[in-house]
Amino acid sequence: MGIYFPIILIAYANIQGALSTECVEVDRPKTRIFPSLVAFQGNKVPFDPRNSSEGNYVSFGLRVVENLPKNAFLTFDSEHIIKLDLNGKSIRRISDNAFFSLSCLKYLTINNNSLSVLTWKTFDGIQNLKELELIGNKLTELPDKAFTMMTRLKYLDLSDNILYRISPFSFDNLSSLHYLKLGKNRLVYIQPEVFNPLVSLRTIDLSFNKFIDSGSEKWVLPNLEILNLSGNFLRNFDTSLNFSFRSLQKLNLSSNYLTKLNVHSLKVNFQKLTVIDLNHNYWHCDDLASMLHYLIDNRLRIPSRNTTQINEMGIDCENTTQIPFDFSETTTVAIPSSSIIAMNVTALNELKIEHQIRNLSMKNDEILLEISGVRKLLIFCLLFLLFL
Ligand SMILES: *[C@@H]1O[C@H](CO)[C@@H](O)[C@H](O)[C@H]1NC(C)=O
Ligand SMILES: *[C@@H]1O[C@H](CO)[C@@H](O)[C@H](O)[C@H]1NC(C)=O
Ligand SMILES: *[C@@H]1O[C@H](CO)[C@@H](O)[C@H](O)[C@H]1NC(C)=O
Ligand SMILES: *[C@@H]1O[C@H](CO)[C@@H](O)[C@H](O)[C@H]1NC(C)=O
Ligand SMILES: *[C@@H]1O[C@H](CO)[C@@H](O)[C@H](O)[C@H]1NC(C)=O
Ligand SMILES: *[C@@H]1O[C@H](CO)[C@@H](O)[C@H](O)[C@H]1NC(C)=O
Ligand SMILES: *[C@@H]1O[C@H](CO)[C@@H](O)[C@H](O)[C@H]1NC(C)=O
Ligand SMILES: *[C@@H]1O[C@H](CO)[C@@H](O)[C@H](O)[C@H]1NC(C)=O
Ligand SMILES: *[C@@H]1O[C@H](CO)[C@@H](O)[C@H](O)[C@H]1NC(C)=O
Ligand SMILES: *[C@@H]1O[C@H](CO)[C@@H](O)[C@H](O)[C@H]1NC(C)=O
Repeated sequence: MGIYFPIILIAYANIQGALSTECVEVDRPKTRIFPSLVAFQGNKVPFDPRNSSEGNYVSFGLRVVENLPKNAFLTFDSEHIIKLDLNGKSIRRISDNAFFSLSCLKYLTINNNSLSVLTWKTFDGIQNLKELELIGNKLTELPDKAFTMMTRLKYLDLSDNILYRISPFSFDNLSSLHYLKLGKNRLVYIQPEVFNPLVSLRTIDLSFNKFIDSGSEKWVLPNLEILNLSGNFLRNFDTSLNFSFRSLQKLNLSSNYLTKLNVHSLKVNFQKLTVIDLNHNYWHCDDLASMLHYLIDNRLRIPSRNTTQINEMGIDCENTTQIPFDFSETTTVAIPSSSIIAMNVTALNELKIEHQIRNLSMKNDEILLEISGVRKLLIFCLLFLLFL
C-alpha cells in the first residue's frame, strides 16, 4: 500500500492535467534555464504564467543526461510548460513516457543529439504538440505510430538524420501536419501508404536523399503546395503520370541527373505551378532552351544560379550529346566535372549496387515465372501424349 500510494497520486495528477489544464501562453514568453535535470525535478516555482512571471519556456545548461528516463520532466506544475529546448545535449536514448506530464507542451526541439531510436511511446502524453524538431540525430528508421498522439502537430522536422526506412504507419494521426522535412537523409524509396494520414500536408522537403525515381505519382497529397526533390539521383521525372498534387505551386528538381522533362504535360498536370527549379542537371542546351521558352511563355518562374559554365538563361547545361552516366554499365562511372552537388563516387557506387540488388531480385522472379512456364508446357505435352 505504501508503495502504491505515490504512483496513484502521479496518475491522478496526470489525468487531471490532460483533462482540465488550461494551457496559457503569453505574448512575450520567458525562458527558464535549469542547470540540470535534477534541479528541474526539484522545481518549486509554478510555470503557469498566471501564478508566476518566471516563464514557461524551459531549457537546460550544458548537459541534461544521456538517457532520459521515464517521467523525466515530471515536476511541480510541469503541465504548464509550453516549450522545451533540448538542443545539443548529447542525448542518446529517450525512455518511453519520458515526456509524460507535459500536457500543454507546444514546441519540442531535440536537435543536434545522438538519438538513434524512437518507439511509439517515446512521445506519449504530449498531445498538444504543434512543432517537433529532431534535426541532426542518428535516426535510421521511423517505427509505426511514432507520432500517434500528435493530432495537432503542424511542423515536423527530421532533417539531417540517417533515415533509410519509414514504416507504413509512421505518420498515423498526423492529420494537421502542414510541413514535413526529411532532407539530408538516406531515403531511396517511400511506400505510398506512409503519406495517407497527411491530409493537410502543404510542404514536403526530401532534398539530399537518394531517390533515383521518386515514385511521387503514387503519393496521395491533394493539398501539397511545395515539393523539394533537390539533391537526389533522379534521372527521370515523368510529368505525364497521374499525380495527386492538384495544388502544387513550387517544384524543386535542382541538382539531379535529369536530361529531359516533358514540359507540356507538366503544364497540364500541375496547373497551379508557379515556380520550378531546374538548376544543376544534365540538360542538353538545345532541349533546355526550348523547355525554358515554353515554360516562360506559360508564365512560370524559373530561378537561375547564373553559373560561370555554359548555360541557358543562367541554368547550366551540356552542349554535347554525352549522357552523364548509365546504371547498366558496371565499369567506372564518368562524373562530369560540372554542376554536381552532394555526390561523390562512393555514394554513386553505393547507389549502383542498390540498383543491381533490386534488378537481381527482379530477375529471380522472372526466372521463377519462366520455370513455371516450362512446367506448364511439360504437363500439357504429357496430357497430349496420354490422349494419343
Ligand atoms: C494558479 O492560478 C490559478 C488561477 O489563476 C489557480 O486556480 C491555481 O490554483 C494556481 N496554482 C498554483 C499552484 O498556485
Ligand atoms: C547544431 O549545432 C551546430 C554547431 O553548434 C549549429 O551550427 C547548428 O545550428 C545546430 N543545428 C540545429 C538544428 O540546432
Ligand atoms: C490514432 O489513430 C488510431 C488509428 O490508427 C486511432 O485508433 C486512435 O484513436 C487515434 N488516436 C488519436 C489520439 O486520435
Ligand atoms: C527546398 O525547396 C523549396 C522550394 O523550392 C525551398 O523553399 C526550400 O528552402 C528548399 N529546402 C532546402 C533545405 O533548401
Ligand atoms: C488518377 O488518380 C485518381 C486518384 O488519385 C483516380 O481517381 C483517377 O481515376 C486516376 N486517373 C487515371 C487516368 O488513372
Ligand atoms: C531548391 O532547393 C535547393 C536545395 O535545397 C535550394 O538551395 C534552392 O533555393 C531551392 N530552390 C528554390 C527555388 O527554392
Ligand atoms: C542571372 O542571369 C539572368 C540571365 O542570364 C539575368 O537576367 C539575371 O539578372 C541574372 N541574375 C543575377 C542575380 O545576376
Ligand atoms: C552550343 O553549341 C552551338 C554550336 O554547336 C552554339 O551555337 C551554341 O551557342 C552553344 N550553346 C551554348 C549555351 O554554349
Ligand atoms: C536493371 O534493369 C533495367 C530493366 O530491366 C535496365 O534498364 C537497367 O539497365 C538494369 N540496371 C542494372 C544496374 O543492371
Ligand atoms: C562520399 O560519400 C560517402 C557516403 O555518402 C561519405 O561517407 C564520404 O565522406 C564522401 N566523401 C567525400 C570526399 O565527400
